[in-house]
Amino acid sequence: MTGDEVQLLDDSIRDIFRFAELGKNDTFYHLGCGNGNSLAIALQEFSVRKAVGIEKDALKVAEARNLLEEKNLDAEIRCQDIVESDLSDATMILFWFSDMSITEKMFSKFLKLKPGCKIITIFDPLPEVMPEKVSFPYILHEVPFKLVSMKEQLIKIFETECIDFTTAWEFAERYTKAVGSPEAGNDRFLTILQTMMIWINARNLGLSCTKEVPAPVKAYAEILQNFFNIEVNHLIK
Ligand SMILES: C[S@@+](CC[C@H](N)C(=O)[O-])C[C@H]1O[C@@H](n2cnc3c(N)ncnc32)[C@H](O)[C@@H]1O
Repeated sequence: MTGDEVQLLDDSIRDIFRFAELGKNDTFYHLGCGNGNSLAIALQEFSVRKAVGIEKDALKVAEARNLLEEKNLDAEIRCQDIVESDLSDATMILFWFSDMSITEKMFSKFLKLKPGCKIITIFDPLPEVMPEKVSFPYILHEVPFKLVSMKEQLIKIFETECIDFTTAWEFAERYTKAVGSPEAGNDRFLTILQTMMIWINARNLGLSCTKEVPAPVKAYAEILQNFFNIEVNHLIK
């Protein structure tokens, strides 16, 4: 599962922009911009000074250029690997990647950005950076980064030091609602997977509420193993 076919819906993009307070003084970058809908919304509804999309898939680049042309909007769309991209004039970046091989490379680029530049991620924060603002699953970071432990980061994101199964489920559902498509039949599956990830990370950082593994976690670990061949037990420390 690469996530390359995932496309944010217009309403999620509007929520993200309102959360990040995107505005007329911003030079907005979307890394992995897909069909370019975020660039159109940034220009048309949030009046950004400049919108830049970077996308490695030539077909999606063509689709994005068409969309912008149809709407008579002027955005820069680069057919490029984000790892190679020049982001130096960005003031607001949307970066939705969880692949470590990309996040690690991008992190060193982000460190060199102008002070005040903001980076929005979804679900995963930037590694060991204290977020400026959170409306889960949206997370806003600002350059220069304040580096903290993963535990401090999680407490800031979940606003609690005790993440039980129900809390993990509630946050996972927010993620599913934000990124799921209305006709998706796999929303429940996504929520289960993300719940397990949230709970296991919390557990491994000493933030799960009890010493014993709760019954629903055991049950879902079994379901994932037996029906989907996904093994998560080895992740639980
Ligand atoms: C924004 S990402 C979202 C999902 C992400 N892959 C994840 O799982 O976190 C999806 C978009 O990024 C594009 N993309 C993936 N890797 C890229 C890269 N290295 N450079 C530029 N675009 C990329 C894909 O073609 C797709 O349109």
